[in-house]
Amino acid sequence: MFDTQKSVLQEVHLGFINKTNKKLFIKRDDLIDEFVSGNKWRKLKYNIKHAIQRKNKGIITFGGAYSNHLLATAAACDHYGLKSIGIVRGEELTINSNELLNKCNSFGMEFLFVGRSEYARRSESIILEYYKSEFPNYYLVPEGGANYYGLIGCQEILFETGFDFDRVFIAQGTTATSCGILTSLKNGMRLSAVPVLKGYDALGEMKKLLTYSGFEEDWVDNLLNLVDVHNESHFGGYGKYDASLLQFMERFYKDTSIPLDPIYTGKMIHALHEYCLATSEIHEKILVIHTGGIAGGMEISKKEGYVFS
Ligand SMILES: Cc1ncc(COP(=O)(O)O)c(C=O)c1O
Repeated sequence: MFDTQKSVLQEVHLGFINKTNKKLFIKRDDLIDEFVSGNKWRKLKYNIKHAIQRKNKGIITFGGAYSNHLLATAAACDHYGLKSIGIVRGEELTINSNELLNKCNSFGMEFLFVGRSEYARRSESIILEYYKSEFPNYYLVPEGGANYYGLIGCQEILFETGFDFDRVFIAQGTTATSCGILTSLKNGMRLSAVPVLKGYDALGEMKKLLTYSGFEEDWVDNLLNLVDVHNESHFGGYGKYDASLLQFMERFYKDTSIPLDPIYTGKMIHALHEYCLATSEIHEKILVIHTGGIAGGMEISKKEGYVFS
């Protein structure tokens, strides 16, 4: 087991927080583990448990060239004596294309590098059946760990916080983490979801995953009324960022000593900043979930000449 007690709850004092009548706490899931960091362990925990119960040889899953999910899967499988296979977007890639893929390989992960059009079909049942028949002894986990087991693992995050908050901020990719948080909110709390993709139908995607996971449709609609979507901090879309975001993250790091990544958590804190300025009259106690993303994000930041550590 990876130790979630390392994920401390930290109060953060920042000029824009104090000025806008807010109190800010950060749940440091990024401290859980160097490689199985942030929401990765939350989403993998019950998938790994399930694979072990099924007596599978290993896990097969999907990711991009800088996928923190691939790295976490490789490290967690290695830890539990399972094998791992990563289906990676980009047929031009190799094990040595970047440090992250190299690290995955050092944890024993094997790769299938596939073209973008094949990768785009990763959720189609015909493709999933193909991979299942090619690797019959492996448990197949969707990209980002976004399934029922991923969702219930993420429900455990708030249980470690005492629930004494008005609002929770979370970065959103597949929505598994935000769905886990949403289904564990207590009375009076709201969820601020920050999609990192441009033009993303956040509520529609959450509804899909929640109903697919067995939650009743009318209850799902009630829950989705508790969500505020912050659609303006995507910086052009998934994996896109600019110098202003990197400078914002650098300022945040100087003020708090908390590293962010430009793919997820940097954009989420940016949306938090904008939200606080727009609601400066409202007194609120806000909880931010630091979902990690440090390894892949650091590699990108380093390439751009920024080092947050
Ligand atoms: C660092 C980080 N934060 C947030 C997310 C978004 O989580 P989800 O895909 O569950 O919405 C991801 C993707 O898994 C991530 O790597």
